[in-house]
Amino acid sequence: MLHWTMRSTAFEHSAFQDTGWPELDLIVTAPPCREDDGFTWELMEDLGCWAWDHLKPDSCFFLNFSGLDGVSNRPYKVAEVMEDCGFTWNDTITWVKGFQRPTDGANLLGDISEPIFLFSKGKPFIRKNSIGIPYSNVWDIKYNNVSPGRDQSKERPHNDRFPIALPQRCLWLADIPSTGIVGDPFGGSGTTAIAAYKENRSSMSTEIDQLNHGVGYERIDAVMGDKKELDTAENLFRFKTFED
Ligand SMILES: C[S@@+](CC[C@H](N)C(=O)[O-])C[C@H]1O[C@@H](n2cnc3c(N)ncnc32)[C@H](O)[C@@H]1O
Repeated sequence: MLHWTMRSTAFEHSAFQDTGWPELDLIVTAPPCREDDGFTWELMEDLGCWAWDHLKPDSCFFLNFSGLDGVSNRPYKVAEVMEDCGFTWNDTITWVKGFQRPTDGANLLGDISEPIFLFSKGKPFIRKNSIGIPYSNVWDIKYNNVSPGRDQSKERPHNDRFPIALPQRCLWLADIPSTGIVGDPFGGSGTTAIAAYKENRSSMSTEIDQLNHGVGYERIDAVMGDKKELDTAENLFRFKTFED
């Protein structure tokens, strides 16, 4: 399996050097939700167009996007952008994060859950039984939030990281072939790549921030241990892994 992570702006054709982004079997991603982190409507339109162009026919696209104080409809408006790009909006999964943190937002009651949108291009087979019976669109996946007073920089260096179990569940549902590639244009600290590794699938991701990209490299490297060959180029880490 191959796992490529590139420090670059999402969607750049030059991201993976002369090869560019390949055709993908699955996309799992969580873009920035706040303007301070890089959110723009143009970026969302670019995401929709890029995902439509790079996803193989009859494939799934999972998009995690959290609501924000004062703009709680933003996730749903982002989902409509994806529909405008051609995607079918199959379902809205409610991810219950397993902790309740008091919010200081004036309008929100809490932030215990956030949506994950399931879109499809064409008519993919979705292996519902893979997530257990009865399967459901409410996912309890514990989010390891740092307790007040603990050192956030050590315990959860990337603020908006999702748990490995989240992209892993998406991989189970999408049931991509063993040669399949999962893409994450907002790769953050490498969670989608780690899930792909655990499920014996290849991955490709981009991440704009040097610190996040570096943390991603360290996490991926640690999970793969010595079952890999590493090849680096400027801003690019290429891991080749071997099955047991
Ligand atoms: C919500 S976080 C994703 C976290 C990731 N799922 C993980 O588990 O680590 C969004 C990421 O998008 C990155 N980002 C923001 N704008 C970007 C852009 N234009 N191109 C690529 N990455 C970008 C941010 O640096 C951030 O790491």
